[in-house]
Amino acid sequence: MNDFKNSDHIVETRGLIKFFGKKSVVHKLNLKVPCGGIFGFLGPNGAGKSTTIKMILGLLRPTSGSIKVFGMKLQEHRQKILQRVGYLPENPILYEKMRVIDYIRYMARLHKVRGDLRKKSLEILDFFGIARQSFSQCRELSAGQRQRVGLAQAFVHDPEFVILDEPTTNLDPLGRLQVFEKLRQLVEEKEKTIFISSHILPEIERLCDHLGILSEGKLVAAGSMASFVAHATDKEYVIIVDRPTELYHDLRPLPNIIDLEEKEFQIVVQVKPHQEHQFKKQLLEIILEKNYQLKAFKPLYTPIEKTFIDALGIRSKRDLENVNE
Ligand SMILES: Nc1ncnc2c1ncn2[C@@H]1O[C@H](COP(=O)(O)OP(=O)(O)O)[C@@H](O)[C@H]1O
Ligand SMILES: [Mg+2]
Repeated sequence: MNDFKNSDHIVETRGLIKFFGKKSVVHKLNLKVPCGGIFGFLGPNGAGKSTTIKMILGLLRPTSGSIKVFGMKLQEHRQKILQRVGYLPENPILYEKMRVIDYIRYMARLHKVRGDLRKKSLEILDFFGIARQSFSQCRELSAGQRQRVGLAQAFVHDPEFVILDEPTTNLDPLGRLQVFEKLRQLVEEKEKTIFISSHILPEIERLCDHLGILSEGKLVAAGSMASFVAHATDKEYVIIVDRPTELYHDLRPLPNIIDLEEKEFQIVVQVKPHQEHQFKKQLLEIILEKNYQLKAFKPLYTPIEKTFIDALGIRSKRDLENVNE
């Protein structure tokens, strides 16, 4: 791993800018991807995630700014860097008439993998749960199967760092869980660093150790997942009781509420800033006094959802509904 072991970041961009014509797509991006663990690159469609990834891989030339991977300048050491990187593109192009095994073997050869390529290819296909299709032609695969083959080729040369651009969009929920387990295993047991872009928030939340949120080409939040959880402040809560309509009317006069809504057996309340504690006390008093059965009291959003909403400057539920999926 040469001098890189001393460096904290596997990727570091400085002032990265990309224009397509006059359109600014990535704007002064200072992105630091820590070494080890899974980094989630989260952002709505069109935020500039794939463009950033392609620049990190040297597939697109930045308009300006610098990129270091493994502590080395991309411009000067592209070949050396890319040998140690795996990549799953957003829409992986497979060689349709090739058999899956031959495609993986071909990719292994491109990456100069040595030894028994057939054995290694079968192993990685098996690892990603697609061994049964090894002798099918690529064109016969379903979208989810293609994605697994795409994952297998990204890891076939045992790279230290792997970039996966929206790796699970075509997988069913069980497939996603299986792939997540595998990725976690690669990080824990083989010390890989994995960079995943996604617009699917719960996926990132469940999987990642670090997070960067991109909005309109700008990094609007970044840090460890633990730090987001530690700093989360809840202002919206869901309350479920046995008599919601009655509680709704009991809560309405409280002075520390901004918004109150009753729907489908639950109450959603938004509390004024810094008055959460006071509100909880009053709620508890009402519940005890009027003998409600409290079935649930929980934040409306998880810490990462909250970070995402705040980072994108979404203030109302209506704004939220208008965000691209
Ligand atoms: N080759 C290109 N030429 C012109 N515009 C592009 C090109 N590639 C991407 N874009 C535009 O750049 C923006 C960001 O795209 P992209 O990086 O693919 O976003 P994301 O991956 O976050 O969905 C979008 O508005 C997209 O239309
Ligand atoms: Mg994309």
